[in-house]
Amino acid sequence: MSKLRICGGRRLEGSLTVQGAKNSVLPILAASLLAGRGTVIHNCPALSDVDAAVVILEHLGCAVSRAEDKIYVDPCRMSGCCIPDSLMREMRSSVFFLGPILARTGEAVLSMPGGCELGPRPIGFHLDALRAMGAEISEKGGNIVCKAPRLRGCRIDLPMPSVGATENAMLAATAADGVTTITNAAREPEIVDLQNYLSALGARVCGAGTPVITVTGGICRRFCEYTVMPDRIAAATFMACAASAGGDVTLENVRPGDLDAVSAVFSAMGCELSASGRSLRLKAPERLSAPGTVPTAPYPGFPTDAQPPVMAAALKAAGTTVFVENIFSNRYRHVPELLRMGAEITLEGRVAIVSGRDKLAGAAVEATDLRGGAALVAAAVGAEGVSEVSGIRHLDRGYEHIEDRLRQLGADIVRI
Ligand code: EPU
Repeated sequence: MSKLRICGGRRLEGSLTVQGAKNSVLPILAASLLAGRGTVIHNCPALSDVDAAVVILEHLGCAVSRAEDKIYVDPCRMSGCCIPDSLMREMRSSVFFLGPILARTGEAVLSMPGGCELGPRPIGFHLDALRAMGAEISEKGGNIVCKAPRLRGCRIDLPMPSVGATENAMLAATAADGVTTITNAAREPEIVDLQNYLSALGARVCGAGTPVITVTGGICRRFCEYTVMPDRIAAATFMACAASAGGDVTLENVRPGDLDAVSAVFSAMGCELSASGRSLRLKAPERLSAPGTVPTAPYPGFPTDAQPPVMAAALKAAGTTVFVENIFSNRYRHVPELLRMGAEITLEGRVAIVSGRDKLAGAAVEATDLRGGAALVAAAVGAEGVSEVSGIRHLDRGYEHIEDRLRQLGADIVRI
């Protein structure tokens, strides 16, 4: 099993190009089922979650080919409506396929995604949204069976702004008769990206980025090419690495505005940030200062996905940082591993209190989830001595060649 071997303590200098967004490309690949005449998606990152989505598309009968960062999908011969358990288990996000399969075929059968490393990941909001559009949903032997020969436009009031439920509702609504209005919708930039992709396919969607999204059913399914937005969480992770190790790093292919909440925390830590067009430069101070309280919240608040890597940077900041995790119930699994590196963190339910130390020491640590793994890497580049990070299959789900990108900035990191 591979590991990352990191010899910490080197300043990071230079620039790197940030990958396309995982949380955008996955719903867009699911949406490609609606592209009657085929579609080419650009800026697709090389991630194991993207591989899993491609396998699902092929299983459903789509022709898929890949070249560099492009994925071509032709769903004309789509023949299936079931995703077997073995493929669902590969990736929780496969639940995004529910809406478009239903929209395309009138029936979808998926196994229950169940819990995951971040705690329970229920899909009740997704199912309620589909029911509101007229789908009949039952559970059979651990499978969810959704049937809707016709979907009808309606009003969907989400109990909370769930990213996945908003996306599933938008996808199914493209095939509904009439207008669907989604209120309390998630406002993440990835939702706007999905709207832009659906519009390029000929769907009539508006309001993404606000709490009210309107979809007028009846998609014209034209051929389209689309470029996936940059990954704001990968960008936040590299900012955390630069803050932790010290240095002066410029990230290319980012949209600085998507990172405002994250940038505000790094500024409060004493980092100098400057944005210009699609690049963002971060200069770390001699010693970071604790940024105070960092509560996670739906966009435009501070993203839960950035909490673990930013925590890694806060470990050496002078003073006390308080993280409040408001989105997931089990998103502190990196904490026991960070303690092995000499961090001082106290956990109280949803709150993690970090007391900044002068230094961290390299250690053997294990990633147990994607962003927790990113936190271990960010801590290791700033620690003295050698760290070995195992469990890197979690990192490969969401970061494209993370070791190459960090080596480009001067980090001493290899995959062994
Ligand atoms: N929730 C419910 N019922 C539902 C759906 C969600 O109670 O039916 C709850 C969840 O349990 C959670 C909260 O709502 O407490 C928010 O979950 P959301 O549905 O917004 O999350 P998601 O769609 O499952 C996406 C990202 C996550 C990211 C969250 C929050 C993708 C593929 N995943 O998940 O990304 O953390 O939104 O922003 O888009 C990651 O990239 O590491 C990652 C976990």
